Amino acid sequence: MNSKRRVLTGITTSGTPHLGNYVGAIRPAIAASRDAGVESFYFLADYHALVKCDDPARVQRSTLEIAASWLACGLDPEKVYFYRQSDIPEIPELTWLLTCVTAKGLLNRAHAYKAANDANRAIGEDADAGINAGLYMYPVLMAADILIFNANQVPVGRDQIQHIEMARDIGQRFNHIYGGEYFALPEAAIEENVATLPGLDGRKMSKSYNNTIPLWLPEQDLRKALLGIVTDSLTPGEPKNPDDSNIFAIYQAFASADETAAMRRAFADGIGWGDAKQKLFERINAELAPLREKYEALIAKPGEIEDALLAGASKARALSRPLITRLRAVAGLRSLRDAPATATATATKARAEKPALQPVVFRDADAFAFKVLDAKKTVLVTQGGFTDPKAAMAAAREAMENMTSVGRPV
Ligand code: TRP
Repeated sequence: MNSKRRVLTGITTSGTPHLGNYVGAIRPAIAASRDAGVESFYFLADYHALVKCDDPARVQRSTLEIAASWLACGLDPEKVYFYRQSDIPEIPELTWLLTCVTAKGLLNRAHAYKAANDANRAIGEDADAGINAGLYMYPVLMAADILIFNANQVPVGRDQIQHIEMARDIGQRFNHIYGGEYFALPEAAIEENVATLPGLDGRKMSKSYNNTIPLWLPEQDLRKALLGIVTDSLTPGEPKNPDDSNIFAIYQAFASADETAAMRRAFADGIGWGDAKQKLFERINAELAPLREKYEALIAKPGEIEDALLAGASKARALSRPLITRLRAVAGLRSLRDAPATATATATKARAEKPALQPVVFRDADAFAFKVLDAKKTVLVTQGGFTDPKAAMAAAREAMENMTSVGRPV
């Protein structure tokens, strides 16, 4: 059995890596991958990219840039699993198996989908106008990414926590329906001490705010970009508060404790913004210059990156292939030569234990009501007039207790 903790994360291939990605994801993930107690999985989520990007050149270019960035920053593909999502056919295959155990209502509640609905409603459009089904299914594809490798921990930003919870729900539901421990249940790992960088305008650096500084700008362009960060109008000589300065926040993400303390003093002593930005540039460039050189060399040889990704996929598929074979059989997608009884025993048992009756609570005029359905969705009883949904559910359960499993009142 595998005793190492499995840590897995995906990077959507729809953009160009920026300083915020470097500080918030690439650098900490590569540091974590050197921990001997973990098995790390990093992949380029190019299927996810298609949800929001229909420009093929951009998806391909982004895949190349992100792969080259992670390799340039020191990811060792021999020590980790580093692959491209679309090279693992077991992922879309599992996506369908999971789709069929996922409650549609769960997906209705996903933040990203709901936000798109709300944006439509705000301008008086149909709630689903312009929303592709990929956005709707996004959490299931992501659950497949995670569950196919039985990942235990998924380092993600806060905006992704709900997706990890859904992956747990979906995995649990599959385990329950088919009566086995097929999937480990993943947990979100939120790194508390990883910095979130402010962008050019002071808001969080993010592609969606259009305020990013690309990671691999040539030296002089990097300098110019950093000079463009907004500051207040305090003049040289006036003391400045490091704790509400974007320049200081970015500096701190690159500097040692001593360097940071020195910069704090310089702020108190009234360093001018021009000087502070120059120091910021020098500090960042000192870290990035050697990596930039590696990046340039790598990106000039896309064929070698392609080979590294294909080798990574082949290593990863040694894990995903046997699991999907097992899952297909468990769900009944199997050779007619196989004896029907063997693989189904547990699943049949789980099904037999499923309650034949189902309570449903709904809003009825100004009150709440319940109905009880049988396995064929026939309504057996319905009753209204409850002040809250909890009371309606309690009454539904009581009504069910008074029925036999075939649904007739005793
Ligand atoms: N949704 C993630 C993001 O936008 C990317 C992603 C896709 C991912 N599949 C994943 C992250 C699986 C972690 C695990 O950041």
